[in-house]
Amino acid sequence: MEINSFKDMFVAELQELADVEAQLADALLRLAGAASHPALKRALVHHRAETVTQRERLLTILDKHGANPTAHIDQAMRALVTETKKMLTMLKADDLRDAGLIASAQKIEHYEIAAYGTAAALAGQLDLRDEQKMLHLSLEEEKRFDLLLTRLAKNEVNPDALAA
Ligand SMILES: [Fe+2]
Repeated sequence: MEINSFKDMFVAELQELADVEAQLADALLRLAGAASHPALKRALVHHRAETVTQRERLLTILDKHGANPTAHIDQAMRALVTETKKMLTMLKADDLRDAGLIASAQKIEHYEIAAYGTAAALAGQLDLRDEQKMLHLSLEEEKRFDLLLTRLAKNEVNPDALAA
């Protein structure tokens, strides 16, 4: 497929993001199931709900542009999720698994932060202010979740894994 306009590039980025969120909604269920620290489990469940909302925002925008929301499979996300699963099977102890789980989740979050940052900027340059706002909302949620994971890792999960 050829992309010949800035607007079509924007739409293609959103189609990728819609698949990223679909993959992540599945993955977060699995991660929450594998987590032991109650605060980490809660954070993952909470972000799973945000992920569903974020995907709905993307579907709303794609619908406005008459674009197919399942046109793309995001291979980078697929690889990140595969690596996450592999890592989890290698970590047998609960505290260690939680620490590895956060490491994997943060790689995914940083990928999403990059993607939403770009998508929101593209929307702004296209003067699509409502869409820019929606994408910015999702961007802020990703950043908050990432910060929460950093806090959990530093204050609770990693010290426990080190001490075990
Ligand atoms: Fe997300």
